[in-house]
Amino acid sequence: MEKVQEIISFIRKTFKEEKEFIPLHAPTFSGNEKKYLLETIDSTFVSSVGAFVNKFEEDFASYTSAKFAVACVNGTNALQMALILSDVTAHDEVLTQALTFIATANAVAYVGAKPIFIDVERDTLGMSPKALEKFLLEHAEKKSDGFTYNRKTGKRIKACVPMHTFGLPLRIDEIAIICNEWNITLLEDAAESLGSYYKGLHTGRFGKIATFSFNGNKTITCGGGGALITDDEVIAKRAKHLTTQAKLPHPWRFTHDEIGYNFRLPNLNAALLCAQLEQLTRFLENKRELANLYDSYFSQTNIQFIKEIENAKANYWLNAILLNNEKERNLFLEETNKNGVMTRPAWDLMNTLPMFKDCQHDGLLNSIWLSERIVNLPSSVRK
Ligand SMILES: Cc1ncc(COP(=O)(O)O)c(C=O)c1O
Repeated sequence: MEKVQEIISFIRKTFKEEKEFIPLHAPTFSGNEKKYLLETIDSTFVSSVGAFVNKFEEDFASYTSAKFAVACVNGTNALQMALILSDVTAHDEVLTQALTFIATANAVAYVGAKPIFIDVERDTLGMSPKALEKFLLEHAEKKSDGFTYNRKTGKRIKACVPMHTFGLPLRIDEIAIICNEWNITLLEDAAESLGSYYKGLHTGRFGKIATFSFNGNKTITCGGGGALITDDEVIAKRAKHLTTQAKLPHPWRFTHDEIGYNFRLPNLNAALLCAQLEQLTRFLENKRELANLYDSYFSQTNIQFIKEIENAKANYWLNAILLNNEKERNLFLEETNKNGVMTRPAWDLMNTLPMFKDCQHDGLLNSIWLSERIVNLPSSVRK
């Protein structure tokens, strides 16, 4: 495959790496990480209480322009918490994407609810407003209590969880209008889209709650880590309460007023995250430069580089291309990985996995088409 060899050379040149393995997304620790970690160790407050957790929550809310942020152990339990805070239970259904990372669907399952998979758009790779509206018109009804129910199952469709795939903002304003019309709670899985904006607003600012991940492969990381954001003070306070074992404040008593969770981010991780957040603007500029290089390279080939849509500013967390068909995609993956350049396909669609194979979906034509063609390219911040 001659052309793939050319692409491999281009990637190696771009990363100034002639022989070594090129990962998909490696973290960069070039700021105050060590300093803050040492401060935390010296303070002995390495665990669930500490100044860096509070600082991170304040800084993160300010960065995303949300009123409140609550740090969590990871993005998966931040999403689970968002569903709990929206009172999603085993009686409910949740609209989401089949083209997403497993954690989105798992979080729905953790609260006992059933996901319904809605198709995505070919340009944003995120939930299609048209497909969402079509599904609701065909399969749902708004009853006299003002809520939306699935005509087939009789269950309430309580929440909608779109996901900004690879950091590319989806048409979230249109999704928000539809959710509002049908009285469905909008929760954004913004795990991948820190630093991505749509119509000038940070992703995650269109729904009631949004969640983020700081896993090792994300734009900023503290090993694990997650957060939720909201403008609702009652939700934010309850999030803090529930993620810290639902303990009532008291100088010495251990009293808990409901079943809580141990989801709070340790101060040690928060220290690392504060240092990472300080560098986010630089990371994003660096990643945009890389995306531009990929874009101009692939514009001279018959391979499509996936770009942000109009009115969107992507973080280009993971750069993605579309191969012409599944066979070419597989050859490309084999050749690049064999040559030490890490590339990956999109996730297997959720509806194809044994746990979710019986879930309702809308045919998922674009999701299937995309999942056969998407390849993620090395996307780390370059030195
Ligand atoms: C779309 C999406 N949702 C949720 C998560 C879960 O985040 P975490 O790995 O921090 O639990 C991730 C990433 O890992 C993700 O990509």
